Amino acid sequence: MINVIDNQYFHLQNNKISYLFYVMPNQQLGHLYYGQPLGDLSNKDLEYLARKVNKSAGTVKFSADTGQFTLADRGQEYPVYGSSDFKAGALEITEGTTPLYTDFRYKSYRITKGKPRRLHQPTTFGDDGETLSIQLTDEEHQLALTLNYTIFNDHSVIVRNQSITNLGTVPRTVQKMMSGVLELATDDYEFLHLSGAWLKERHITRHALAQGTVSISSLKGASGHQHNPFVALQEKNGTIDHGQVYGAQLIYSGNFIGQAEVDEWSHTRVLMGIHPDYFTWEIGEGESFETPEILLAYSAQGLNGFAQETASFIEKHIIDPQWQNKPRPIVFNNWEATYFDFDHQKLIELAKSGKELGMECFVVDDGWFGKRDDDRSSLGDWTVDERKFPKGIKVFAQEIHQLGLQLGIWFEPEMVSPDSQFYRAHPEWVVRHPFSRISIGRGQYVLDFANPQVVDAIYEQMKKIIQETELDYIKWDMNRNITEAYSAYLNEVGIDQTEFFHRYILGVYRLYEKILTDFPTILIEGCAGGGGRYDLGILFYSPQIWPSDDSDAIERLAIQTGTLLAYPLSTFSNHVSASPNHQVWRQTSLKIRQDVAMFGPLGYELDLNQLTETEKTAIQERIAFYQENRQLLTFGRFYQLATGTDNEVAWAVYDETEQKAIVGFYRILSKPNSAADEFLPLSFLSADQTYQVNDEILSGKILRQIGIRKPYQFNGANPDQAQVQGDFQSYIYQIALAD
Ligand code: GLA
Repeated sequence: MINVIDNQYFHLQNNKISYLFYVMPNQQLGHLYYGQPLGDLSNKDLEYLARKVNKSAGTVKFSADTGQFTLADRGQEYPVYGSSDFKAGALEITEGTTPLYTDFRYKSYRITKGKPRRLHQPTTFGDDGETLSIQLTDEEHQLALTLNYTIFNDHSVIVRNQSITNLGTVPRTVQKMMSGVLELATDDYEFLHLSGAWLKERHITRHALAQGTVSISSLKGASGHQHNPFVALQEKNGTIDHGQVYGAQLIYSGNFIGQAEVDEWSHTRVLMGIHPDYFTWEIGEGESFETPEILLAYSAQGLNGFAQETASFIEKHIIDPQWQNKPRPIVFNNWEATYFDFDHQKLIELAKSGKELGMECFVVDDGWFGKRDDDRSSLGDWTVDERKFPKGIKVFAQEIHQLGLQLGIWFEPEMVSPDSQFYRAHPEWVVRHPFSRISIGRGQYVLDFANPQVVDAIYEQMKKIIQETELDYIKWDMNRNITEAYSAYLNEVGIDQTEFFHRYILGVYRLYEKILTDFPTILIEGCAGGGGRYDLGILFYSPQIWPSDDSDAIERLAIQTGTLLAYPLSTFSNHVSASPNHQVWRQTSLKIRQDVAMFGPLGYELDLNQLTETEKTAIQERIAFYQENRQLLTFGRFYQLATGTDNEVAWAVYDETEQKAIVGFYRILSKPNSAADEFLPLSFLSADQTYQVNDEILSGKILRQIGIRKPYQFNGANPDQAQVQGDFQSYIYQIALAD
């Protein structure tokens, strides 16, 4: 997979991609190509690609002894600002406050096979990975830089990360160190990202590229509700099924930046990594700093091809192997059913009803600990509230397990309420600046996870509960962002406060590591006020994430469509909630709520005691259907289908081996007298096969070329023939090979 030619050209290749770079005349690394596989290349080919006869006008030469050579107009593997290149660079190092204009020259390379999964930090892993590590040195500044590139079989993704080591005695400060760089020869792309807010996360947003910079970022201490650490560049005029798409996606959960800069020659440079604001990292003699990893993904098959490649890569090389293809339990979560108003008996009644309906895991949400009757107290006191559980948490857990249900419990480990024993005992363990004012969010403070003692103290409390309850599942929440970032601990040990944000996230990963080392089979569901930390760092530890506090089926259509551009279906947990919905007060049928929620890991979060007998039967039937089709609905290949209008959404999941599919069609608002005949082509089916589509037998040729007919909607004349009626309609198609 990795060819090194003449110690000068480096070609990473598999059956889906080629990534090519070389040693430039100044001994730095230049980028040549990323895209469809090129196969074997002759020396003539390589020289031809690397040749640059002209120096672009108006540029500065790199040095007196490299002729016409300038960095300004070159694609580079790890560019730095200030030595003939004026664009934003990937690396900035200072000595004190003095910038070092580094000059990293190629020294040697190493190839390693296989990549282990280590819990201390989230990274890709896999036996079939090959990693090319390029060593570069800057002799003058006594710095060594390693660029790592991993390529796996059958996946169109290059994984990159970098480390820098101080070979000298004088301390250096890393001011900026990006995880990935992607250089593209043109700006013929749209910049896509996933933006939003609390309750409306990860909607697909587009910007046209033009000379200048487009960027997204977070400085909240978490990847955030507003921007996701993911960007894609989609070829102009590309569609969901055609055209090239490049993606950059960080394996990291803290502050980040992702940007695309277009220069005066219409070259595009994408940079992504830890946000350089409020960040520095000091490296003393012999010390190193290593960046998080990034995925650089590619597809020539439009957004669907891109999303499928990315999803299958993440499933295989980031998600914990024990959860790969493993059915996820159907969850009942009591939050929207009871909020804080519950006790042992009430929960057991709900659990019994849930069990009768077919649910498999009972999750006790917020309010079981300390004395927490609202969101103003007790975070940090992870001991059971005996007013609510007079028999103790152990007996409660036993009763749940005796019902044949798994048990899940909600924690918010990184937070503390001012009204808690934990805070009273250790006010210095809170993130707060020594000045007097402190911001407060949801009535709570953030704990200083940069301090290992704090992580240990929280873990000890969690461990007791996990052991006592023989816990199957944790919902790990995180409901506020970091303000006035300052750690008393870092001050004490003499570390700069600008290292806080990164050290905080490393502390979060440490807690994950501790839990999963002691309880390797526990299923952790990530959550951050819904989708405030939906990223590959968290998914490395918790294979699914509560994607949004907005549980309305219609809102979820856009959230899920956006999320699935960058993340697998199996990571997106969905709950059927009440109508009217508690976030937007929209009224929808149980049918559409179930039709939307069944794509991905399914759950229920509503008061089961309020259900009518008809609704109970509908839930039982749906759960039976879900259990039968769970693998397909969780791990099937996901397609967005082109509906031709914003008012409609259609999704398909497809199992290639068995050639079966489920299609969900959703119409948000009904329209009077819409087109009489409309179809959704299913291009993934085979033209040579015959399929059963619900009750009909149809040929693959028809289904591929023309498609399944959209459900007929009431047009005022013949309501009895309508398959869907009114606003918020849904229709499910089940497709399998005909006998
Ligand atoms: C957050 C979560 C919700 C719920 C509440 C409990 O908002 O996203 O699902 O757990 O906290 O306080």
